[in-house]
Amino acid sequence: MGTCVTLSGGRVCLRQWRDADREAFAAMNSDPRVMEFFRSRMTRVESDAMLDYIQKHFSEHGFGLWAVEVPDVAPFIGFAGLDVPQFSAHFTPCMEVGWRLAFEYWGHGYATEAARLALGHAFKTLALAEVVSFTSVMNQRSRAVMERLGMRRDPADDFDYPRLPEGHPLRRHVLYRLGAGRRSR
Ligand SMILES: CC(C)(COP(=O)(O)OP(=O)(O)OC[C@H]1O[C@@H](n2cnc3c(N)ncnc32)[C@H](O)[C@@H]1OP(=O)(O)O)[C@@H](O)C(=O)NCCC(=O)NCCS
Repeated sequence: MGTCVTLSGGRVCLRQWRDADREAFAAMNSDPRVMEFFRSRMTRVESDAMLDYIQKHFSEHGFGLWAVEVPDVAPFIGFAGLDVPQFSAHFTPCMEVGWRLAFEYWGHGYATEAARLALGHAFKTLALAEVVSFTSVMNQRSRAVMERLGMRRDPADDFDYPRLPEGHPLRRHVLYRLGAGRRSR
């Protein structure tokens, strides 16, 4: 079991989860605006199961998808961080950087700022050579975060997300990569 770290810088703090976050996490995961590019909105049971998975990832690796707090603004605005994807594709095994914010906190630059902290941990502390991110081709807001972070997409890396059935409109995904030394900041 690794030691869990907290990352902070700029306006955001990537912290450990508290039981009190479960309710706001479930509210975010049931919001159709937030879940537009996912297969479905989450029930409370599914949201709690995802948080259990996140906490298990932290206890196994010492890092993961952190709860994001903006001090003096909100104790929980969503999550951002690192995850080891559990499916198999041409780019796995790999380290993914990911994010999800409650709708009212979009449009402030918080996701990009939080992701930069997670990337700093990946490259400086974990000394990884590469971090990837992926999303549905249509998820322009998430792709814009990837681009602001300096991540690069090669269309040859596009893939069909194996957890969505064939023919599903969200199945086609883009892959963005960032190598150590190529960070935007
Ligand atoms: C993906 C997601 C996190 C992006 O959120 P976002 O608010 O667009 O991204 P950022 O937090 O980086 O904010 C950037 C925006 O804040 C604006 N902004 C305002 N103040 C800012 C500041 N002080 N600093 C930086 N940017 C600022 C930027 O101009 C930009 O606006 P724009 O979208 O009009 O260009 C959000 O849409 C989301 O949670 N979506 C649902 C979950 C999801 O799809 N996750 C990804 C699955 S792979």
